[in-house]
Amino acid sequence: MRILGIETSCDETAAAVVTDARDVLSSVVSSQVDLHARYGGVVPEIASRAHVELLTPVVAQALVEAGLDDDHVDAVGATVGPGLVGALLVGVSAAKALSLVWDVPFVAVNHLEAHLYAAFLEEPELELPVVVLLVSGGHTMLVLMEDHGRYRLLGSTIDDAAGEAFDKVARYLGLGYPGGPAIDHLAMSGDPEAIAFPRAMLDDEYRFSFSGLKTAVVNHVRRNPDVSTADVAASFQQAVVDVLVLKTRRAVAEHGAKGLVLAGGVAANSQLREAALDAAMADGVHPFLPSRSMCTDNAAMVAAAAWWNLQRYGPSPLDTGADPNLRLTLVD
Ligand code: KG4
Ligand code: ZN
Repeated sequence: MRILGIETSCDETAAAVVTDARDVLSSVVSSQVDLHARYGGVVPEIASRAHVELLTPVVAQALVEAGLDDDHVDAVGATVGPGLVGALLVGVSAAKALSLVWDVPFVAVNHLEAHLYAAFLEEPELELPVVVLLVSGGHTMLVLMEDHGRYRLLGSTIDDAAGEAFDKVARYLGLGYPGGPAIDHLAMSGDPEAIAFPRAMLDDEYRFSFSGLKTAVVNHVRRNPDVSTADVAASFQQAVVDVLVLKTRRAVAEHGAKGLVLAGGVAANSQLREAALDAAMADGVHPFLPSRSMCTDNAAMVAAAAWWNLQRYGPSPLDTGADPNLRLTLVD
């Protein structure tokens, strides 16, 4: 079954064609980074307008690259939330229109679930249960995935998301937007042990906090104006990674998980990937790190999640709306 996935929840306009949540026939991502960079973050109104302009050519390209005619798509899936409401509406409306025109099912997809399914795209036989560390620009969550569609939330951030911390620190250091890749790159030439930034809430089982760390970075740079920016970037990144990996390992051990999965944009971080891999090896569990392009927002993960949703729940009603605050459906 070939599914066209559409993703417009934030600042990437993306479309992909995936067969049976396994084979990615095409995955096109048109980033709006250049449009938002001068504002230092995503401007919702600019994002919505850009999606309107970009979506049709992006979908067309995804179909052409997949070698498909329109009528060979078996379903259309789109992210319905969480995200920016105006941005979401563009993708949701387009997906519904295409499903009507092609007379194929429309499938609503939760963006967070799509991030989880990025792992299954590249490793469909991943053995469950797994602990998923979902770290993006808007979320930081530790999730126990017991089965498909069965998620337990172990903990999340009480303030900033990990990606948000990367973006805010990068902006403060003058590294531009988006901050994660910039810090990742600069940190390679810095000393991660140069500055002992705080590791927050280590004793709290699974909750995270990153806003104090951001303040600690600002205070350190104010007090030491000549400090090496590379050392600040590397030490900040190490502090984030230490906390994320420690709590993920704790969750894996406590719940007897068979695997450790990284998901979301921050899962593209070199240091986090290395540390997660080492941790999984040391603990004897299966590490699963989707390729970097599957960690950041894309539509292949949306098409994959749509396939699983379709198997479990069937098509979504056409009156399903965009929900900017949509949450992961959890088991009790
Ligand atoms: O999943 P994503 O593409 O969009 C959301 O759903 O939020 O995640 C974007 C976030 C941004 O905060 C970005 O700075 C961060 O992921 N990010 C990274 C890296 N690449 C993207 N953070 C650290 N290191 C990276 N290499
Ligand atoms: Zn995302």
